[in-house]
Amino acid sequence: MKAAYISQTGAPEVINFGDLPNPKPTRRQCLIQVGAVDVNPIDLYVRSGAVPAKLAFPFILGRDLAGTIKEVGAGVKGFKVGDRVWATNQGTEGRPGTFAELAAVDYRWLQLTPANARDEDMAALSLVAITAHIGLVHYGNVKAGEVLFVNGGSGGVGSSVVQIAKILGARVITTAGSDQKAALCRELGADLVLNYKTEDVDAAIRGFAPNGVNVWWESLREPNFERTIPLLATRGRMLVMAGRDARPVFPVGPFYVKECSLHGFAMFNASARDQRSAANAVNRWVSEGKLKARIDRVLPLSQSAEAHRLQEQSTLQKTGLLAGKIVLKP
Ligand SMILES: NC(=O)c1ccc[n+]([C@@H]2O[C@H](COP(=O)([O-])OP(=O)(O)OC[C@H]3O[C@@H](n4cnc5c(N)ncnc54)[C@H](OP(=O)(O)O)[C@@H]3O)[C@@H](O)[C@H]2O)c1
Repeated sequence: MKAAYISQTGAPEVINFGDLPNPKPTRRQCLIQVGAVDVNPIDLYVRSGAVPAKLAFPFILGRDLAGTIKEVGAGVKGFKVGDRVWATNQGTEGRPGTFAELAAVDYRWLQLTPANARDEDMAALSLVAITAHIGLVHYGNVKAGEVLFVNGGSGGVGSSVVQIAKILGARVITTAGSDQKAALCRELGADLVLNYKTEDVDAAIRGFAPNGVNVWWESLREPNFERTIPLLATRGRMLVMAGRDARPVFPVGPFYVKECSLHGFAMFNASARDQRSAANAVNRWVSEGKLKARIDRVLPLSQSAEAHRLQEQSTLQKTGLLAGKIVLKP
């Protein structure tokens, strides 16, 4: 099969596209004919070596996939040949990566694809929608009528956070770095969209939510707590989920007197079981047409190195050239 893989960590140029042996599904695995995968910032950190990971070379990149089951192991329950499925959290903890024509995935990580969704949609939604669900439901405990803030509402995580927070009944504030992206955020349902390059974001948040923000989803890799904690409501919850190297000042006074709480989380810690309950909700919302993938572009899998370059420029070098996910098709 063709696959995008690395034999050492480094710049995007270390990505090879070529032939590797077809995987053989074990008892609990299904063999998937991969229809689509996508790029996440974590892929960049693993490929570059920025995040130390135990990698068996040749290492196939990628966390997410969507496709069709070709074979099922004898111990697989609930899935059959021909089922359309999606998965995230692969390519870690000894599970093989997804950037290939074929992938063998333990059935406990598989989710059925809703009939109205394309493989591209589910690949693009998988990691970010599960992240948004875990953060909003499990840690943020967002309730109807509460105010939620998230930066970058047209981005990978941001676009899922905006939509799922709206589904949960929150009043959603988000930001964008251009007027075109601001329009995308409005299409996704955000109530207040601010251009963070041209508008006074803090003043607009205070105007919209005079009692403060109930749930602040901090997605920036350099959080500024001196700025954001004063914007929280009494008993506000703040979520942090990015910025491994960030060491910001933390203003304790304004935080404790309002009885706020801070939750850090990483979706890759969720077990297959935790993910299944989040995935069930994601599938339901996709089926109902309430949750949609935000895809910037679709490329052939042979252009994985170029996809990594683009994602790196957009997310890490902050050119903002992408509005959503890069999807790749084998
Ligand atoms: N902990 C977890 O479980 C988890 C899961 C997924 C991702 N992550 C992390 O979350 C971060 C975001 O991932 P992603 O996939 O959403 O990346 P992304 O698609 O590149 O989105 C980044 C967003 O940040 C916005 N942004 C950049 N600079 C900004 C600024 N100064 N002010 C306001 N907004 C700004 C961008 O808005 P514009 O494009 O409009 O400029 C963009 O929408 C990454 O660091 C990733 O590693 C963590």
